[in-house]
Amino acid sequence: MKVVLVGYMGSGKSSVGALLASKLGVKFYDLDAKIEESEQESVVNLFESKGEIYFRKLEHKILKQILHKDESFILSLGGGTPCYFDNHELLKQEGIVSFYLKATSAKLVERLHPEKESRPLLASLDKDEMLDFINKHLFDRSFYYHQVNHIITIEEKTVDQLVGEILQQLR
Ligand code: S3P
Repeated sequence: MKVVLVGYMGSGKSSVGALLASKLGVKFYDLDAKIEESEQESVVNLFESKGEIYFRKLEHKILKQILHKDESFILSLGGGTPCYFDNHELLKQEGIVSFYLKATSAKLVERLHPEKESRPLLASLDKDEMLDFINKHLFDRSFYYHQVNHIITIEEKTVDQLVGEILQQLR
């Protein structure tokens, strides 16, 4: 079983992915964390020192390495992963089940504004600018996010509830 979680920054991909993996007793991979491990550098620093294009190429390479693994896993992508190269097509391979954790822009701002320093694309924005930015960004990315097999709306749900919904879909 290979499960991939897709969604905008702040949609809970990492916490949902980790809990889902522990419930299913399979490995959990967080793509950003794997990139940081391979470069020995944080995503924020990578964006700053090497630029976004370097980051996207690395993200594509490590995504392919993980998808090729001959084992069951849960993989949480970065918010931009499905939108570059042919990454969204790679997720349609047989045996991969993908979920989009879908949140409203308002909910995302509520979650992201307090921790914006750790998000290179958002760090310079105040709350109003962030809402405008996310609205447009979600519109641009929507096509890629909607290529998944299942959409889960996050609303006010807890991580436990979201994991429960995903488990139901996997049955
Ligand atoms: C990005 C999302 C981040 C990280 C990078 C770019 C994006 O991942 O990959 O900062 O383009 O949306 P998270 O969604 O895990 O925060």
